[in-house]
Amino acid sequence: MRFNPALLLGFASVSLAYSSARTFRRSPDEDKASAVVDAFTLAWGGYWENAFPNDTLRPISNIGDNDRNKWGVTPIDALSTAAIMGQADIVQQILDFVPTINFTTTEEPDSVISVFETNIRYLAGLISGYDLLTGPYQDLAPDSDKVEVLLDQARILADAISFAFDTPSGVPSPNVYLNPEPRRSDGTQNGIAGIGTMILEWTRLSDLTGDEKYTQLVQRAQDYLLHPAESAEPFPGLIGTEVSLETGEFLDSRGGWSAGTDSFYEYLIKMYLYDPVFFEEYKDRWVLAADSTIEYLASHPSSRPELTFLAEFNGTTLTPSSGHLASFSGGNFILGGILLNEQKYIDFGINLTESYYATYEGCSSGIGPEGFRWHDDALPEGEENRLPPDDQVEFFEEAGFWVTSPYYILRPETLESLYYSYRATGDTKYQDLAWEGFQRIMEVCRAGSGFSGLTNVREADGGGYTDFMESFFLAETLKYAYLIFAEESDVQLKIDGPNGWVYNTEAHPVRVRG
Ligand SMILES: *[C@@H]1O[C@H](CO)[C@@H](O)[C@H](O)[C@H]1NC(C)=O
Ligand SMILES: *[C@@H]1O[C@H](CO)[C@@H](O)[C@H](O)[C@H]1NC(C)=O
Ligand SMILES: *[C@@H]1O[C@H](CO)[C@@H](O)[C@H](O)[C@H]1NC(C)=O
Ligand SMILES: *[C@@H]1O[C@H](CO)[C@@H](O)[C@H](O)[C@H]1NC(C)=O
Repeated sequence: MRFNPALLLGFASVSLAYSSARTFRRSPDEDKASAVVDAFTLAWGGYWENAFPNDTLRPISNIGDNDRNKWGVTPIDALSTAAIMGQADIVQQILDFVPTINFTTTEEPDSVISVFETNIRYLAGLISGYDLLTGPYQDLAPDSDKVEVLLDQARILADAISFAFDTPSGVPSPNVYLNPEPRRSDGTQNGIAGIGTMILEWTRLSDLTGDEKYTQLVQRAQDYLLHPAESAEPFPGLIGTEVSLETGEFLDSRGGWSAGTDSFYEYLIKMYLYDPVFFEEYKDRWVLAADSTIEYLASHPSSRPELTFLAEFNGTTLTPSSGHLASFSGGNFILGGILLNEQKYIDFGINLTESYYATYEGCSSGIGPEGFRWHDDALPEGEENRLPPDDQVEFFEEAGFWVTSPYYILRPETLESLYYSYRATGDTKYQDLAWEGFQRIMEVCRAGSGFSGLTNVREADGGGYTDFMESFFLAETLKYAYLIFAEESDVQLKIDGPNGWVYNTEAHPVRVRG
């Protein structure tokens, strides 16, 4: 696509609708930004000393775990953050490591490879590193041969797992193996997040390499999600979750903005940012989904009706249940509002951001839980819309939700939405909330040689440690925390000018087309 002159012409003639009225003073805060950098270097150092070259630090045991096929997920996921924070030494450590990875096999036989996780962490980490280090951060990597290896490895990785798409429908298998020989898992279905969260990375890879095969694979799969059967779309734009690998047909009509579906919606508007001409239909689908979400899924707890959470749906039956993952939705609405110049999406996104942050404020640790529910007066009474369990009646009265999954694994989504709220409004209130959340994470999750997930956020001390520092803590949580306080730069979201970068769902920025 990239070489089609007609398309380029089309791109040039369209300008995104930015409002010139929304120009705010920003208040970068050097001390707070540097406190976030300190947390990043501490986390990285803990990993490097105790876990490298394994995937993930266990900060209490001081050893490395291999949960992502032992290709070294923490360094690849940390690269874009290290670049944006200007950490030349860490960038160098990672660039020296990258050529040693063999993405064509796994060291362990029968090591299951999640296509989704591999795409959002490894492939995106490599591509983003390449875009950043050939662009605004090239001074951090003077040896351009080492930077080229990032793109070589991205291509090798995509080539190694692209047989995931060799299903009868072209919908990718969710899991594959490379050792002892390449094969797909036995599963017969994949979720819309698994299918619809490849389009950005594989399109960027095609644009960088000039090889169309990557984007062709993902577009064919995405097509089933853009044109679902009526029965799989209970509300306009809101679609089911599981899709058959055999036929590309939907197997259910349940969904929402949580696990298994979330980043499908996220990428619809992000592809419009990537290329507003070529991906216009994606934007139209996002608008349908966003409008239906405001109309049907917005739900208010009976004990605190000023809060807005997003309910899940099964057909047209709603369940007032959500979780930490879904708290990215505020930021995604705000991004859509900025790109489309629609204040209603920004306002709704801010309501979501503040409401999901209230799940942090409601818990004794000051950090929000993985899963929660609420009761909504406006929905039919019954099992789906039930009252809180006896031991959380008081908690629900005060907090507006009750906890169904009490753990916290260093997830980023709440800080991510605070970042978008701050960029959209310039209101330092969102910096203050982000600082509060960041400090709680510093106090409660700081453990051993790094940071650890928590077992129970309802306890002031987090209940106990999971002894696991997920790579997304470095890729996302600390990146968004940093950007909220950092100076203006190329990669900061702009509300009043063209955006040259789009963040994948793991917070890896890649260059937009054009
Ligand atoms: C890395 O993982 C292997 C198991 O694959 C383990 O034997 C080794 O001790 C680990 N090393 C580090 C530094 O974590
Ligand atoms: C990667 O692993 C494959 C399979 O074991 C092997 O054939 C190949 O030589 C390895 N490549 C590198 C660069 O080590
Ligand atoms: C969704 O609704 C269908 C049809 O009413 C039902 O069979 C199915 O069990 C429900 N799924 C979930 C996850 O509740
Ligand atoms: C946001 O929340 C406020 C306060 O509850 C409400 O008045 C307003 O209508 C909401 N805006 C949107 C767009 O949902």
